[in-house]
Amino acid sequence: MNDYTEEINRRRTFAIISHPDAGKTTLTEKFLLYGGAINLAGSVKGKATARHAVSDWMEIEKERGISVTSSVLQFEYGGYCINILDTPGHQDFSEDTYRTLMAADSAVMVIDASKGVEAQTRKLFKVCVMRKIPIFTFINKLDRDANDTFDLLDDIEKELGIATCPLNWPIGSGKEFKGVYDREEESVISYSDTEKGTKEGIATRIPLKEEARLRGEIGDAAVDKLLEEMELLDGAGADFDLEAVQAGNLTPVCFGSALTNFGVEIFLKHFLKMTTTPLPRKSDKGYIDPAENEFSAFVFKIQANMNKAHRDRIAFMRICSGRFDAAAEVRHVQGGKVMRLSQPQQIMADDRKILSEAYAGDIIGVFDPGIFSIGDTLCSPKEKFQYEGIPTFAPEHFARVRQMDTMKRKQFVKGIEQIAQEGAIQIFQEFNTGLEEIIVGVVGVLQFDVLKYRLENEYNVEIRLENLPYEHIRWIENKDEIDIERLSGTSDMKKVKDMRGNPLLLFVNSWSIGMTIDRNKGLVLAEFSKN
Ligand code: G4P
Repeated sequence: MNDYTEEINRRRTFAIISHPDAGKTTLTEKFLLYGGAINLAGSVKGKATARHAVSDWMEIEKERGISVTSSVLQFEYGGYCINILDTPGHQDFSEDTYRTLMAADSAVMVIDASKGVEAQTRKLFKVCVMRKIPIFTFINKLDRDANDTFDLLDDIEKELGIATCPLNWPIGSGKEFKGVYDREEESVISYSDTEKGTKEGIATRIPLKEEARLRGEIGDAAVDKLLEEMELLDGAGADFDLEAVQAGNLTPVCFGSALTNFGVEIFLKHFLKMTTTPLPRKSDKGYIDPAENEFSAFVFKIQANMNKAHRDRIAFMRICSGRFDAAAEVRHVQGGKVMRLSQPQQIMADDRKILSEAYAGDIIGVFDPGIFSIGDTLCSPKEKFQYEGIPTFAPEHFARVRQMDTMKRKQFVKGIEQIAQEGAIQIFQEFNTGLEEIIVGVVGVLQFDVLKYRLENEYNVEIRLENLPYEHIRWIENKDEIDIERLSGTSDMKKVKDMRGNPLLLFVNSWSIGMTIDRNKGLVLAEFSKN
């Protein structure tokens, strides 16, 4: 045990995931309100200003054609030091969004009660499942007409394959929203929207035992329906099991309304009680315990040109163990160098704060002179180990890249390789040709613009992108057992290789994937590549 164990143990680092418009920003702002990070009286205005600031930043980034920031927010609440990793919205969705999840110890999933599980939630959720991190669900917008509660839970179970355990239960929705029933306390918290923009805490709680009073407050019909639903739920729902939650097999669910600030603080309290302290992380010398070891971190994101004036690159790292001291030297394992990290900072939207220290669980950004790659490990100079790499996520959009001026071959290759190294795009080659023809794969289409813009502006190379119809890519997991040349797929399948020479297959639809597996006995295809 180190003298900083206490600091580490009070850290909670999580990502918020949702489909756009489900209420992620609103919920995050309410969390910040409880943490005192947003000034109370000015919170409504504060919300607008905060959002303005964030979106401005993104606008600027878009204009300049660089990848969009996932910001990190840190605040204190109830003795905890909380790090929220915000993931960018839909049109900005990129591989970075996935990578951000690699830096979190748990996830909060926000679902719109009138929509249920939506496409984006599903994708991000898959990554959480792969990592087996705890997932907490907040079903939002109960102040609007919502889907049936059982249907919403069913939807999560079926669509995402995770059991649900409601911690509270909504009573009506929309105009008929009366509040929520707290299952642990066996009492009803009646709804009021008068607390909009203020801290919660004055909501009325009525124990279920005081049925007459409850009937007086929320009406006979609502009480009868609640009693009926509770009976059904007690017979059908999964029992609460903290171990299953922490293993990512069961998601605790809370209902509320982020906009009117109803049910948010209760959710936050439950969440903090059940979620985990910074988790040990796997390395080539086994799991590294956050509190038992000296400083170590891994790079999960590299962002170029955050500061227009300086054309800088920032490497974002998640501290996995020990304490970071800005004055001390660290070892960059992959680079084989011992160095001091330059300008360590905490980055919140467009605000930067230079740091002198940080602890396991925290996220820091450091100036990168072009030496770091995604997945790199930093540790104390006394140590030398590497954290397990960050998987490469499957791109969903592909284009063939052609350079306009073939004389600029060198700049073109350099530029495209550097941008790929930052992780903004993935590059592939036709299986039997050289670098003349490059296929680019991206997770979100915005990255195509980013590539074009950056090649023109930073490398002075003009390109033309020709969209390809592929939507799925698969790595060949058992590539040593398979003869790629003889592999027979559907006519629209394409064989390519990545920059390391690994063979991959591109498909137009999922039906072709199934056909190819059927036709080639023993072929094992993977959706992620573990580097
Ligand atoms: P996102 O980050 O997940 O994309 O969603 P965001 O919080 O921006 O919310 C999307 C819209 O939904 C916003 O409305 C927001 O006010 C609204 N909203 C969020 N939570 C609730 C809720 O609990 N109840 C209701 N009724 N609405 C909610 P907007 O009109 O797009 O923006 P604004 O003008 O309100 O800022």
